[in-house]
Amino acid sequence: MISIIVAIAQNGTIGDKNSLLWHIKEDMRFFRTTTSGHPVIMGRKTFESLGSKPLPKRKNIVITRSDVEFEGAFTAHSLEEAISMAEGDEEIFIMGGAQIYAQSLDIADRMYITRVERDYEGDTSFPEIDYSKWTLVKEECFERGEEYESPFAFLVYDKK
Ligand SMILES: NC(=O)c1ccc[n+]([C@@H]2O[C@H](COP(=O)([O-])OP(=O)(O)OC[C@H]3O[C@@H](n4cnc5c(N)ncnc54)[C@H](OP(=O)(O)O)[C@@H]3O)[C@@H](O)[C@H]2O)c1
Repeated sequence: MISIIVAIAQNGTIGDKNSLLWHIKEDMRFFRTTTSGHPVIMGRKTFESLGSKPLPKRKNIVITRSDVEFEGAFTAHSLEEAISMAEGDEEIFIMGGAQIYAQSLDIADRMYITRVERDYEGDTSFPEIDYSKWTLVKEECFERGEEYESPFAFLVYDKK
């Protein structure tokens, strides 16, 4: 199964200046527990936004058009190549950014969306989602987080 995992603000933004716009402890924890033990696929810019350090306990696969090697991560030159490197695992995670999400929407079976219930100004947005192709299978809403003052929700959508 191929799963997209993303946190999206109310107005669609997912990042700015190659970093995240919010810090929600619960979301970091959700991301870690959901993806741990599984391969994670990301674009070169997202890998750099992590300080070019691989996420522990996961096979990290970084997509780039250039001929570079990333320490602690596998390099792929297309999304298809990245997926074939991850094959064999029951769940493969696509973890961004916008360019990689845009290429993954058609092939993904599931989306884990953290919906951040406020607007953020940013230079990167999630591509438009055609919700007629997806069924909401889980929704967990929070009024606020331990250290985050706005509401957010964990949503799971399966492809119809
Ligand atoms: N909110 C969230 O959940 C979330 C999650 C992840 C990322 N983000 C944010 O998203 C932003 C980064 O997203 P982005 O769209 O700018 O960049 P990105 O998707 O992370 O990476 C783009 C890079 O991936 C490579 N690439 C893309 N398509 C390719 C293809 N078909 N074949 C080979 N290589 C390909 C290229 O690398 P080269 O230029 O090296 O060729 C391209 O420059 C940051 O602000 C980050 O914080 C947010």
